[in-house]
Amino acid sequence: MESALDWHTARALLEWQFEMGVDEAILDQPMDRFAVEQAAREAAEARKSTLPAAGPTRVQRVEIDPVGEAEAAARAATSLDALRAAMDGFEHCHLKRGARNLVFSDGVPGAKVMLVGEAPGRDEDLQGKPFVGKAGQLLDRMLAPIGLSRAESVYITNVLPWRPPQNRDPKPEEIAMMLPFLLRHIALAKPDLLVIVGNISCQALLGKRGITRLRGIWTSAAGKPALPIFHPAYLLRNPAAKREAWADMLALRAKLESGQ
Ligand code: URA
Repeated sequence: MESALDWHTARALLEWQFEMGVDEAILDQPMDRFAVEQAAREAAEARKSTLPAAGPTRVQRVEIDPVGEAEAAARAATSLDALRAAMDGFEHCHLKRGARNLVFSDGVPGAKVMLVGEAPGRDEDLQGKPFVGKAGQLLDRMLAPIGLSRAESVYITNVLPWRPPQNRDPKPEEIAMMLPFLLRHIALAKPDLLVIVGNISCQALLGKRGITRLRGIWTSAAGKPALPIFHPAYLLRNPAAKREAWADMLALRAKLESGQ
């Protein structure tokens, strides 16, 4: 069949999509969304036709509480592997549908230091590991001078295991439904202390934002001593803040050396 679009129109459409923020094709094959909608309509019609005809019978709506579901699934997980499987099977967070991979963790389970980042970006989504892009490489370079590395001495995860579209900030309801998994993750990984990386992680674990005020001050989260630090992605945009980030790394080293 001959295409209805000429080259110039097709190009103008593509540029328009790019300007609207589309920066990558999610699937290998194009998806016919009209067909998907049509199929959903037909399925809804088919469901309707199997319902009893109008009469005294009432159709009961079952409300799902995603936070409650997450709490139950997280509680039932008694190992990190089981927790990963439980998160993989959790269907209530729609971010899962747009993500390529579950990003669970990297580093050494059981390490004294556990870092909690925000959410996967493009590289993390592709590789299924946290902090593997540019920000992650900077994080590695921040840890190395104080003798820490993901190969030997830190464990890393994120508040959200799935990449938000366009790397937008996670929504409060997404954080709320994934928080039970994060708390269980911390309980099972048993770190001595937490490093809270960036504002979203502060929001999730401390219930407040304001990383500029919070950073560098030891606090407590999930029952552990916790140090908020600037997110390395912020440091890439604001190199002048690396000074404070270095002070925070020294505070982390001092805490580890003091053994408290
Ligand atoms: N930023 C994060 O907070 N986490 C990642 O895994 C990558 C980038």
